[in-house]
Amino acid sequence: MHERSCHIFLNRVALLLLLALCNAIKVNGEESNGQCFHKLTLDPRPHSVSILEFGAVGDGKTLNTIAFQNAIFYLKSFADKGGAQLYVPPGRWLTESFNLTSHLTLFLEKGAVILGSQDPSHWDIVEPLPSYGRGIELPGGRYRSLVNGYMLRDVIITDSSDNVCIEDCNISMGHDAIALKSGWDEYGIAYGRPTTNVHVRRVHLQSSSGSSLAFGSEMSGGISNVQVEQVHLYNSLSGIEFRTARGRGGYIKEIIVSDVDLLNMNTAFSAIGDYGFHPDDKFDPHAFPVLEKITLQNIVGTNITVAGNFTGIQESPFTSICLSNISLSINAASSTSWVCSYVSGFSDSVFPEPCPDLENSTTSSSCFFLLKPNGKAAVL
Ligand SMILES: *[C@@H]1O[C@H](CO)[C@@H](O)[C@H](O)[C@H]1NC(C)=O
Ligand SMILES: *[C@@H]1O[C@H](CO)[C@@H](O)[C@H](O)[C@H]1NC(C)=O
Ligand SMILES: *[C@@H]1O[C@H](CO)[C@@H](O)[C@H](O)[C@H]1NC(C)=O
Ligand SMILES: *[C@@H]1O[C@H](CO)[C@@H](O)[C@H](O)[C@H]1NC(C)=O
Ligand SMILES: *[C@@H]1O[C@H](CO)[C@@H](O)[C@H](O)[C@H]1NC(C)=O
Ligand SMILES: *[C@@H]1O[C@H](CO)[C@@H](O)[C@H](O)[C@H]1NC(C)=O
Repeated sequence: MHERSCHIFLNRVALLLLLALCNAIKVNGEESNGQCFHKLTLDPRPHSVSILEFGAVGDGKTLNTIAFQNAIFYLKSFADKGGAQLYVPPGRWLTESFNLTSHLTLFLEKGAVILGSQDPSHWDIVEPLPSYGRGIELPGGRYRSLVNGYMLRDVIITDSSDNVCIEDCNISMGHDAIALKSGWDEYGIAYGRPTTNVHVRRVHLQSSSGSSLAFGSEMSGGISNVQVEQVHLYNSLSGIEFRTARGRGGYIKEIIVSDVDLLNMNTAFSAIGDYGFHPDDKFDPHAFPVLEKITLQNIVGTNITVAGNFTGIQESPFTSICLSNISLSINAASSTSWVCSYVSGFSDSVFPEPCPDLENSTTSSSCFFLLKPNGKAAVL
């Protein structure tokens, strides 16, 4: 088996770009629906350059921002000629933020690690995204992410020519390791761009003060049709978290997360209906989000304090949450394993036993599944 190499350590930034990446990956001219097609080979890019040609030094100390920016500026000129690849050889490549461009493959060789600069002065504050209206950390702006891309088309970050989607990565962050989002309150509703057809697999995620894998809370454009499998989540405040709030509108639905191994978490799963805050006071308090058709299955967890915290919204309860074949070992710090309100769902072979709201015991046919291989969602 060939060795995997996508290996990204990010310290303070959100992977907003992943949305853009997974929305529109093309394989041989066909929309791939974000699925990880293993046997297919991507059309190789007709042009490839190494970051070394732009003077980058992979010693973990030299700041390579200019090299990344220049390389990508150069590769932009190939956008209408089949695109181009930026090859990053093994090394520790320290950089500030850089922008991706469309029709680009960022190829990280095995042993190539992109390191975000730890110096806050290297992180400029930029205009908010149109679907956000304002910054999250700061009113009026936001910190740039390490690798930026928005509304890109046909961008691939990969470790080998036969894999697309987010896979075979180790991501370790202060805040959320992978966060799927789609816009904030009235701005996100107006903008109306969903995040859909995302496939994440074989990743190791860690987030000391956040969630290994988060959905929302900015989800006003909708998040659907996401498949996550074979993931290891560890040393995080929470494992898998669905977040939303009144005023968001939108939806999080048709999500399946399976074959997960959780280690050292305060909370294994949560779905929170009053998460975060609002961009301004113009949001519509009656814009209730929908959270439904979420399947979590084949999960083992060790050293977990709270198994699940499902706190829905009274006017728009969370529904069709399916928990199947889950076994968590709860640590002594725990006073309560499950917290549930305004939620309903099914469960089958779950330990510890979930709250009655999720105990509508069932065959797995009540759960949500993705129909393969085209990734079209369906409830069976
Ligand atoms: C990710 O980390 C795990 C354990 O920490 C390691 O076994 C694996 O090789 C790493 N994967 C990559 C792609 O670096
Ligand atoms: C990156 O993109 C942002 C937003 O489009 C722009 O303001 C910024 O100047 C770009 N940076 C570079 C180095 O091109
Ligand atoms: C259990 O997890 C907590 C973090 O939630 C961590 O602080 C603690 O060291 C872990 N215990 C063991 C025995 O690994
Ligand atoms: C239950 O989940 C475990 C992994 O968490 C897996 O090894 C096992 O095969 C699953 N059982 C069934 C019946 O799917
Ligand atoms: C569950 O989530 C709610 C909302 O975030 C929070 O207020 C509460 O403390 C959580 N409960 C536990 C036991 O973690
Ligand atoms: C159990 O699920 C079925 C099918 O979705 C639903 O009709 C029924 O009301 C549920 N029962 C409870 C107690 O939630």
